[in-house]
Amino acid sequence: MFENETSSACEVLLTLHRGAGARLGAQVESQLRDGVRTGQLRAGAQLPSTRDLAGQLGVSRRIVVDAYAQLAAEGYLTLRQGARPRVNGACVPAVEGGPAAPPPARPRYDFQPSAPDVAPFPRAAWLRSLRVALSSMTDVELGYGDPCGLPALRSALAEYLGRVRGVVAEPDRVVITSGYSQGLSLVCRVLAERGVRRIALEHPCDPEYHVIVRRAGLEPVPVAVDDDGLRVELLAPADVQAVVVTPAHQSPTGAVLGRERRTALRAWLREAGAVAIEDDYDAEYRYDRAAVGALQGLEPEHVVYAGTASKTLAPGLRIGWLVVPARLVDALRQEKRLSDRGTSHVDQRAFADFVDRGELDRHLRRMRQLYRGRRDTLVAALAEALPEARVRGIAAGMHAMVELTPADDEDALRAEAARRRIRFETLRDFGAGGEGPPVLMLGYGQIAEAAIPHGIAALAAAVRASRAATVAAD
Ligand SMILES: Cc1ncc(COP(=O)(O)O)c(C=O)c1O
Repeated sequence: MFENETSSACEVLLTLHRGAGARLGAQVESQLRDGVRTGQLRAGAQLPSTRDLAGQLGVSRRIVVDAYAQLAAEGYLTLRQGARPRVNGACVPAVEGGPAAPPPARPRYDFQPSAPDVAPFPRAAWLRSLRVALSSMTDVELGYGDPCGLPALRSALAEYLGRVRGVVAEPDRVVITSGYSQGLSLVCRVLAERGVRRIALEHPCDPEYHVIVRRAGLEPVPVAVDDDGLRVELLAPADVQAVVVTPAHQSPTGAVLGRERRTALRAWLREAGAVAIEDDYDAEYRYDRAAVGALQGLEPEHVVYAGTASKTLAPGLRIGWLVVPARLVDALRQEKRLSDRGTSHVDQRAFADFVDRGELDRHLRRMRQLYRGRRDTLVAALAEALPEARVRGIAAGMHAMVELTPADDEDALRAEAARRRIRFETLRDFGAGGEGPPVLMLGYGQIAEAAIPHGIAALAAAVRASRAATVAAD
C-alpha cells in the first residue's frame, strides 16, 4: 500500500475512496497508521509536507494537518517545524522473529584474505572521471546500447590488457560485466547451451564458484592443484570440456601455473577443443618479478579471459570484463542482454576515462608498494613469532598461506582466535586441507602495516593457547 519516499518531492501511496462512508481525514489517518504498524512505513521514513500530500491527494491542506497532528499525538509521527514529518521509530513493530541479532564484534586484527584495501580508493580521480562521463555522454549513450558495453571502455580495456597482461584483445571481443562472478555465470550458460556438460574447477577454490557453475547448468568437477598450479594432466581423465583456471596466482594457494603446465594446458585445450576461463583477478599485484603474461595471449581462440576491478580498485564498483573468442561474442551478448541488459553506462564511461588518463596504472603502482610493505612486515613477523610455520604463496596477491604443525588443532585455534577477535580464513573454508595441519590464509588487505606485528604476536599467542588447551584435553 505504501512506498517509501521516492525523490526530493517526497511521495507516499495512499488511496482515498470518495463518497465512501469514512471521512477523507480518517482515511488518511488510518492508512498511515496501518503503514507504520505493518512496517511498510519504516522507522525514520519521511512523509510529504502537508502541502505536498494535500496536493497529491487533491484534498484541503487542513485535512492533512489534522491527520498528521492526530498521528503525532498517538506517537506514530514526529513533527518538527520546517522539516518533513518522520515515522517515529519507537512505534514501528519489531520484525517478526524478534530483534535483529547484534552485528558481530569488529575484529581486533583482521587478516581476512580476499578483501582489498579500499581506503586508498582514489575518490577524487574517480569523481573527476564521473564528472567527465556525465558531462560528455551523449543521449544515445544514456540509452540501452550494446549489452557488451560502451565502445569507449571496450577500447580502453583492450589497450590496457594488451599492454599490461599480454592479452590479445580487439575491442569487439571485450564484454563488460558486473564483476567476475557475473562473467563466469554468463560464460558457463553459453557453454552449457553449446553442449558442454562438465567443467573443471581448481581444487581448492572458493566454494561459491561451484554454485555459480551449477546454476548455469554445468557440473563442476574439482581438479587438484599443487605448488605448480593446476594439475593439468588430470583434465583428460576428468572428462571435462572446459576448465576455470587462475594461472597467474592460484586462488587461494598462490601458486603460479608452471611453464610446462601452461604448455600442457594449451595442448589439451586444442586437442579436446575445450575452453578455459582464465580468472585473472589480481595478477597486477606481483612483487618479486614481473607478472606472467595471460594464458589468453597464447591461445585466444580457446581462452575466455576474465578480469575484475574488485581487487585492483574496489569490489563495490561491480565492474568486470571478458575477452572472448570470436565465436562466443554473439552468444555472450545475448546472455548479457537477458541477464541485465548491460552494466551501468555512467560507470563504464567513468572507468574508460580513468583508464585512459593513466589513473589505474597510478593507483596500481601505489597499491603494489603498499601491499609489498605489508607482505614483508607480515613475513618478518611470522618468522619471529611463529618460526615453526611454513609460509607460502607470497609472490603475489594480498594474502599468505601459513601452514602450522601437525600437532596443531584447527578447531581449538579457531576458538582461541575468535575469543581474541583475530579474523582469518583457513584452507578448510575453501573446501580443502581437512586432514593435514591447519593452513591459515592471512590477508593483508584489511590491516595497517603498523598493526601487523601486533596481530601476528596475538595470533602466535592464540596458537600457543590452543596447543595448551589441546594437551590439557588429551
Ligand atoms: C578468485 C577470485 N576471482 C575473482 C574475484 C572477484 O570477483 P568479483 O569480480 O565478482 O567481485 C574474487 C573475489 O574475491 C576471487 O577471489
